[in-house]
Amino acid sequence: MRKLGILLFVVLLLSACGPAQTAVPTSPPEAPTNAPVVAEPTVEPTQAPTVEPTKKVYPTWTPRPTSTPFPTNEPLPFEETSLAELARARGIDIGAAVSVDPMLRDSQYSELLAREFSLMVAENALKPGPLQPQQGVFDFSGGDALVAFAEENGMRMRGHTLLWHQQSPAWMEKGNFSREEAIQVLEEHIATVTTHYKGKVYAWDVVNEVIDQGGNGLRDSFWLQSIGPDYIEIAFRAARAADPDALLFFNEYGAEGMGGKSETQYALLKDLLDKGVPIDGVGLQAHLQYQGGPNQMDFERNMQRLADLGLIIHITELDIRLPSPATQKVLDEQAEFYHMVVTACVNQPACKAVILWGVSDNYSWIPGQYRGMGEGLLFDLLYKPKPAYHAVYEALKQ
Ligand code: XIL
Repeated sequence: MRKLGILLFVVLLLSACGPAQTAVPTSPPEAPTNAPVVAEPTVEPTQAPTVEPTKKVYPTWTPRPTSTPFPTNEPLPFEETSLAELARARGIDIGAAVSVDPMLRDSQYSELLAREFSLMVAENALKPGPLQPQQGVFDFSGGDALVAFAEENGMRMRGHTLLWHQQSPAWMEKGNFSREEAIQVLEEHIATVTTHYKGKVYAWDVVNEVIDQGGNGLRDSFWLQSIGPDYIEIAFRAARAADPDALLFFNEYGAEGMGGKSETQYALLKDLLDKGVPIDGVGLQAHLQYQGGPNQMDFERNMQRLADLGLIIHITELDIRLPSPATQKVLDEQAEFYHMVVTACVNQPACKAVILWGVSDNYSWIPGQYRGMGEGLLFDLLYKPKPAYHAVYEALKQ
């Protein structure tokens, strides 16, 4: 009955409005509060097209003109069962990267987050820069607020990231430390942070984006320069020593499919595991674009070989960016792509979490990072479900 009502409503709306409209209003209700820094693009643009066209059509949210207020008595086009419930029933998590500001100040954001997601990860608050702005001076306020919200709402908390070549404090990056001093800085940061969040953060990205952009070897970061290639194992061992119960992840971008960077990642992980380095899982970031890679077969093969190493897999930073404002057709293609990614995780026993890099399109890093692109998430600028949401729902339910 509800579906029939929505269908009638859509038909009436279409006949009143004339030709189909684009899927989002042209001006967002408010600007993102966390202006992204300029970073390298995280996906190689040359990858092959991904998704075979199929006939499946996901329900569509037809937006009303921005001047018409949303009537509060109209049922929202959400499914009755949340994504969180569906994911938990399958023994996996569906998560979102969370910014402290909207979580504390925007009730639509926080309600959507608490209802639809079973896990959250700090989008920025647990990176070295915000956490240790001066040497020896730690600021846990943002991270603590996130952890409190996760606890109140029965969500798992994931930590990102103990080490990165970006968003590190200037003193750490440009300190001209000797190898011994740099090791001490790294070990102290990791020990202090993981000890503070012991029992609260169940999994940490220990290292992030350590493979170089071209995928041929290790990134020439300040950590590589000051310590040498063993900084990676030093970081993992420090995390294991301080919090033996936390799951420890190696997180990387552009290594979701087969070939190139993914080969380097596989070889590096195999080598580290052979040496006994305590790595529990691999995070595949998956900042994707709707006509980019990976294709389904490569994605599944790569996950399988990582699973065969004994690793847990998390899809850690999923978003699928589009030219914005997007057409209905493109939103439907995005939904197909989401369906493929989530289905691949659901079908792989080692894959235990799918995490979106944001809650809704109005708080996404994409527009600040990729000119002309946006709308990469499951909920739109007004927090309404997109075809991608219904696709993820179907993928978790099947
Ligand atoms: C991004 C955040 O989303 C932005 O708010 C911030 O300005 C820059 O960092 N890969 C990562 C994430 O591992 O930490 C990045 O997050 C996105 C790319």
